[in-house]
Amino acid sequence: MSVNKEIKRITTNTIQEMKVRGEKISMLTAYDYSMATIVDEAGTDIILVGDSASNVMAGHETTLPITLDQMIYHASSVVRAAKRALVVVDLPFGSYQGNSKEALNSAIRIMKEAGAHAVKIEGGVEIAESVSRILTAGIPVMGHLGLTPQSIYKFGTYTVRAKHEAEAQKLREDALKLQELGCFGVVLEKIPAKLAQEVSESLQIPTIGIGAGQHCDGQVLVIHDMLGINKGFKPRFLRQYSNLYDIMHDAIKNYNTDVKSNGFPNEKEQY
Ligand code: KIV
Repeated sequence: MSVNKEIKRITTNTIQEMKVRGEKISMLTAYDYSMATIVDEAGTDIILVGDSASNVMAGHETTLPITLDQMIYHASSVVRAAKRALVVVDLPFGSYQGNSKEALNSAIRIMKEAGAHAVKIEGGVEIAESVSRILTAGIPVMGHLGLTPQSIYKFGTYTVRAKHEAEAQKLREDALKLQELGCFGVVLEKIPAKLAQEVSESLQIPTIGIGAGQHCDGQVLVIHDMLGINKGFKPRFLRQYSNLYDIMHDAIKNYNTDVKSNGFPNEKEQY
């Protein structure tokens, strides 16, 4: 007799219930099938196909160059792997800023062609019309406030945002607006922990922090950063859970040595 172990999919409702229960939400990025399989099977609640793929997968300096087609390619690979996690996909730079119709078309392509479960979009009141239009089509939307990397050339630096009252107040208003529009959650990136706590306590929808302290309803990290694949990237908020750069480097070095010394393959490793 086979035992059918059914895996229950995390939905935006599950995420909302977790906030109500005070249960922390774990989110990590993934961009390909193999990594997403591990992230999913390890019990991560949300997999974010972030436009950070532009940095960690393609080697660009910023998130700006990645295209909608490239995001859809990454997202479809992740969706095929994720059996339990909610898969959220970033709307890349240039795919939604034009107008709300363009934003809706981009979101629809992500849902239709990649099979994603939700989209994430950077910005507050200035993108309200686009957020609203996407939501009207039945597509769940996650907001993203604070350090929004698609605006890096406006900020000029990746430093902590909303340290001053005017920007903090705008962030509070943006967060409330996103909730009012119907977003199911909001990422808070690199803002003071005290402000993130205040926003998290004032919202009914969950906040997911990155560099925003321990009082957010959940946390997100870029998978390459937390696994220590990006050797040089060590911001204060990042906890490295492994040192995969060195582990992979040593394994590959050993392989190269074995091949060159005719130590691989041996007699048992051939037909
Ligand atoms: O693209 C990304 O990985 C993100 C996270 C840093 C939140 O937006």
